[in-house]
Amino acid sequence: MDSISLIRPDDWHLHLRDGEALRAVVGASAAQFARAIVMPNLRPPVTTVEQALAYRQRIVGALPPGTDFEPLMTLYLTDRTPADEIRRACETSGVVAVKLYPAGATTHSEEGVTDLRHTWPVLEAMQRAGMPLLVHGEVTDPAVDVFDREAVFIDTVLEPLRRDFPGLRVVFEHITTRQAVQYVAQAGDTLGATITAHHLLYNRNAIFAGGLRPHWYCLPVLKREEHRRALLEAATGDNPRFFLGTDSAPHAARLKEHAAACAGCYTAPHAIELYATAFEQAGALDRLEAFASFNGPDFYRLPRNRARIALRRESWTIPESLPFGADRIVPLAAGETIGWRLAR
Ligand code: NCD
Ligand code: ZN
Repeated sequence: MDSISLIRPDDWHLHLRDGEALRAVVGASAAQFARAIVMPNLRPPVTTVEQALAYRQRIVGALPPGTDFEPLMTLYLTDRTPADEIRRACETSGVVAVKLYPAGATTHSEEGVTDLRHTWPVLEAMQRAGMPLLVHGEVTDPAVDVFDREAVFIDTVLEPLRRDFPGLRVVFEHITTRQAVQYVAQAGDTLGATITAHHLLYNRNAIFAGGLRPHWYCLPVLKREEHRRALLEAATGDNPRFFLGTDSAPHAARLKEHAAACAGCYTAPHAIELYATAFEQAGALDRLEAFASFNGPDFYRLPRNRARIALRRESWTIPESLPFGADRIVPLAAGETIGWRLAR
């Protein structure tokens, strides 16, 4: 097979940042995807509908002329988010979900939720309205090993949350473990999960291969090979509640190549090619379209895209770095060759 054609995919978990950084990265996502769920972890965070709509305008304003790309906006849940904000979000087209960051779990999560009980009125309003809660699924207790934080989150936070709000629609974001795959697989229709390309392609050895490699550092951190295999099986399997979310998270090269490297892998420019590589390695290229283009809109109750894209078999080298405002950014797997290329 030298070429594959897919309905145009969407990215159900994306960081676009703001200002110069936004202008540097948004075109890459627009070239790959028709729509994206845009994460609200700016500084200050996007906590209100008004802020989300203003951010949406900045995103659209930063698009290269002639591109067709729809940002789907999210609100950043805090201990103080009023339930009324959910009502406003439901009345606003373009704001589609609310993001839960446990305070301290990841980049720009300081304003996140310290205790879920503070958010119960909000969760009740979301449950009533059918608005999805997007969950960064890691506990923040420093006593819990960083590689176990997702598995512990399932037992101590996610399962109790879903018991308290059985009708709440939840997306378990960027899952990284066998435990998460099993938990989502056995759950009902209200629970979906996104999977990144990097967690399908790499295990945690990638962080340490030939030296400490900060460009492979993201949160949740890469896990053991057994977990990568479980993710690959889920992504290529027939459960429609697993779908594509790149978690492309741009940081300037100087902040990645740093004594305290920022978490996040920049995959937007070659995301669908990375996914195609992972699916081909699993002998399941024929499953890519469902994962990338059907399952996400079906879960979000949005129409599937109509246009198509083509991927060609072509060996090319991922750039060593790309412009990023006044800085440079290093994409994931920079300098490596890849065997698929999006036709443009
Ligand atoms: C994300 C970021 O940089 O905003 N980083 C990451 O490693 N994925 C935050 C997140 O999604 O956890
Ligand atoms: Zn993210």
